[in-house]
Amino acid sequence: MVSVAEFKLAFGEDWQLSQFWYSEESAATIAEHIHSLCTPSTNIAFLCCPTAFVAFQHKKRLENAKLLEFDQRFAILSPKQFIPYDIDEPDVFPESLRGKVEIAVADPPFLNEVTNKKLLQTLKQILHPTKGKLLLLTSTSVEKIIEKVYDAPPIGPLRKTSIEIEHGQLANDFACWGSWDGAENLGKSDGN
Ligand SMILES: C[S@@+](CC[C@H](N)C(=O)[O-])C[C@H]1O[C@@H](n2cnc3c(N)ncnc32)[C@H](O)[C@@H]1O
Repeated sequence: MVSVAEFKLAFGEDWQLSQFWYSEESAATIAEHIHSLCTPSTNIAFLCCPTAFVAFQHKKRLENAKLLEFDQRFAILSPKQFIPYDIDEPDVFPESLRGKVEIAVADPPFLNEVTNKKLLQTLKQILHPTKGKLLLLTSTSVEKIIEKVYDAPPIGPLRKTSIEIEHGQLANDFACWGSWDGAENLGKSDGN
């Protein structure tokens, strides 16, 4: 897999699609923490966060990693792992994903309740019923919305991790939330 630096050179941000890429350092940190949750056979899906997928696969390639994305430019990164995904059609995904995803990493394109509800609608269908974990990367401006939308097990309530997220072009405060007991320790210096 290409590096995040190579990805950024090849793919400019399309602001019409709300594309704001993580800094290289952030993408590497996110990838490292996610790898700490995985085994070589983990079924992991990255929804709407291509640079997280690139950093993760660049660090160590997992066969069962998928990228669900609207922008089909990214199919070229790994055609067999790319799945076209439109958050406005939350029930449209390959049947092979139903109930199979053990870790979902998502950064929804729009910072509102409707978008998060659509994302949740997809997650409820693709996440493994017992092993499924969500890592949500989004703006702290929607913290109240997150509490409201992801309010019930198994996908809520979400715990704020200590992972720090930075972008090149975006000044918004971002953070990372996890759906499992202990997620709040992710990113702490003595945690994972
Ligand atoms: C806020 S960005 C997150 C990107 C992340 N910061 C990264 O560096 O990988 C949102 C992502 O959602 C994608 N997107 C835009 N419209 C979408 C749609 N209708 N359905 C699904 N994804 C969409 C964009 O292409 C973009 O990759």
